[in-house]
Amino acid sequence: MSEIPERQEVVELAKRRGYLYPSFEIYGGVSGFWDYGPLGTSLKNAIVGSWRDMYVVRHGYEEIETTTIGKEDVYEASGHADGFSDALASCPECGTFFRADHLVEDHTDIENADGMPKERLAEILADEGVPCPSCGATLDNARVEEFNLMFETNIGPGTARKGYLRPETAQGIFVDFQRLKRYYRESLPFGVTQVGRAYRNEINPRQGIVRLREFQQAELEYFKRPDDEIDVSPVEDVEVRLYPVEEQEDDDGEPFVTTVGEAVEDGVIESETIAYFVGRSQEWYESIGIDPDRLRFRQHLPDERAHYASDCWDGETLTTFGWIEVNGIADRADYDLRKHAEYSGEEMGVWQEYDEAVVREETVADPDMSVLGPEFGGAAGGIADALREKARDEPEAFEGDEVSVTVDGEAYTVSTDAAGFERREVRETGENVLPQVIEPSYGLDRIVYSVIEHSYDEDVIDDEERTVLRVPPKVAPFDAAVFPLVSKDGLEEHAREIEEKLRQAGMRVKYDGSGAIGRRYRRHDEIGTPLAVTVDYDTKEDGTVTLRDRDTTDQWRVEKDEIIEEIESVVEGDG
Ligand code: GAP
Repeated sequence: MSEIPERQEVVELAKRRGYLYPSFEIYGGVSGFWDYGPLGTSLKNAIVGSWRDMYVVRHGYEEIETTTIGKEDVYEASGHADGFSDALASCPECGTFFRADHLVEDHTDIENADGMPKERLAEILADEGVPCPSCGATLDNARVEEFNLMFETNIGPGTARKGYLRPETAQGIFVDFQRLKRYYRESLPFGVTQVGRAYRNEINPRQGIVRLREFQQAELEYFKRPDDEIDVSPVEDVEVRLYPVEEQEDDDGEPFVTTVGEAVEDGVIESETIAYFVGRSQEWYESIGIDPDRLRFRQHLPDERAHYASDCWDGETLTTFGWIEVNGIADRADYDLRKHAEYSGEEMGVWQEYDEAVVREETVADPDMSVLGPEFGGAAGGIADALREKARDEPEAFEGDEVSVTVDGEAYTVSTDAAGFERREVRETGENVLPQVIEPSYGLDRIVYSVIEHSYDEDVIDDEERTVLRVPPKVAPFDAAVFPLVSKDGLEEHAREIEEKLRQAGMRVKYDGSGAIGRRYRRHDEIGTPLAVTVDYDTKEDGTVTLRDRDTTDQWRVEKDEIIEEIESVVEGDG
């Protein structure tokens, strides 16, 4: 494992070099909001590009884009309006707000207090004499209440129509499901992806870019029949570090390394589809620069799961903030589609043809109203409904000449002929099935930050210390930097010409002509630029340039015409 850097150094580099900026800094900033500078935007876009390449291109899980503001109904149905909250503790002395579960975790041996009832959290705060982190007063009388994390808004003028900023991109996919299932011609399984912003009014986000109030997610909703599973064989040999519930609950338990195939065979990961996405996530994380020694997949403890999940494995990276959740792979079963079907009254099931038609007997009543009307007057309608129900549930009651039903506590007897009872054969060719959903959901900001931390390195070159960001070339903010050795004697023009040629070849390049050449190398080592192209006096003579590799600092000369090929081999060689 490479050495874990100091957080301050990483954050400073990220700010200084244009990766991350605190939002609205000139107005004092607000915690939980960060902007991406030019390099951060480039890195994030490259990471998103590689995520799309994995899921949208290679798996065919097509992408949609839905609104970030949702009608209140959506979040009432999804359960977020009621259940998407954290326990809020407020200090009775200074009035500062905190997450009660975090206070408990920080001051006791309890490792995971998320999901504990608020009464229990208040009890622990009092029993343990937990002090307010802001003023030091003890929190024995602190109020602990549920605080809903969704940002509310009004749609249109006035307050009549309430809306919420989406807390996850997923709901947009579920809400559009009726159209999506038709788009996919009702053919399960299929996957739908979405990349976009999500909003959570986090209580006291003090963890920099790790806990944000506005952040970006890349989510996949994989819709399948209950017994469909993705075959894990393409990833069966991928090594993963797993931390299942049993290990977490055992005092001597530890995460352990195994392969995806073995994890399925040994029943460590019950769902083959979840295991498949764990394998794909592992491969992808490694390809974008996450250190495999600082990556694990931890299963949620039962009281930690979201209101919609029946099982969940989180991808976690080890950073200077400790282990942080970068993605979750959850089994949402049919929870969301069932809820939206219930609340909207719309059909969310997918029509599934049987392999062979099923023939079954159906019993029905078709009461003759010309008999029932004159005989029973105003009660006839109720009697007819009761007969239909009875024909379905108790067909044997129609075996005699008469049948009795009770309507509003009153018993009526009807002749079986008037009831119009019939047994008939029905041929069924299929049925509507509510798909099950497996959801790999990735938090892009945490992934970007983890890539920066895991790529950060310091070494000594020619007795000089340097900082180098060893981001894989395929996600590095630039493919190459172009330098003139000096800014005179026509070297600049040559360098500009090369810069332009590389740009027109679709490469991300940075021209840098200021400062001594050594300083420029260091600057681009820090930025993470994998290759530097230096134009010197020999370039004018023989048309060659110097290429320098960021990681090894090796230098070699190539013909001007070969630069593109050389850069491509570095970027593509990276995988
Ligand atoms: N649709 C499922 C869902 O939203 P989640 O575990 O709540 O699940 C998914 O969020 C990912 O989003 C997390 O794994 C995490 O990386 C990221 N995330 C969640 N809350 C965040 C926050 N406040 N700041 C930054 N990233 C966050």
